[in-house]
Amino acid sequence: MLRIGVLVSGGGTNLQAIIDGVEAGRITNTEICVVISNNKNAYALERAKKNDIPAVCLSPKDFEERKFYNEALIQTIDSYQVDLIVLAGCMVILPPELIQKYRNRIINIHPALIPSFCGTGYYGLRVHEKVLERGVKVTGATCHFVDEGTDTGPIIAQKAVEVLEGDTPEILQRRVMEQAEWIIMPQAIDDIANGRNKIFGTK
Ligand code: GRF
Repeated sequence: MLRIGVLVSGGGTNLQAIIDGVEAGRITNTEICVVISNNKNAYALERAKKNDIPAVCLSPKDFEERKFYNEALIQTIDSYQVDLIVLAGCMVILPPELIQKYRNRIINIHPALIPSFCGTGYYGLRVHEKVLERGVKVTGATCHFVDEGTDTGPIIAQKAVEVLEGDTPEILQRRVMEQAEWIIMPQAIDDIANGRNKIFGTK
């Protein structure tokens, strides 16, 4: 059974797609054992509570120094015996010690087709604003392993989404979520949980 810990910061629609995937049997051999948010108001925490999943709020603001937050985050994740860390809309910079300790056991969902529209400053709605500004006709989402860089770890899965005439950033964001994010992240977790991903856990 793959034990996953989901790190969130916002609405939690990607978390919900994982919860629904486990419920519906699209994700097998998997248990969501904790949801951790840096934002106490994140609706993602409500989604966890509604599904009887331990919901923990750990905010850097609650600690005198960042290193104490980093230590608390690692200790909390370790305490739930997590096999795979899933970043689902997580806006926190992860401590390098965590990335090192969980090498190729942390995955993220990025709302564009890496290596396009990624890296520092490319997150959330801003990604879709840039996509529309540039006038590209196809965008999408990428699920990738997390390393010390920003959106630079090994790519696991991608799914393309058409940009349509009249799209606003909000409309495009929703389409990318519905048609790409909420599909490829659950698929990636199911592949990892059932031994179909060759990079998972390698050093
Ligand atoms: C999504 O757009 C995702 O691409 C990005 O952050 C957003 C999170 O949305 N990483 P939600 O909290 O999962 O609804």
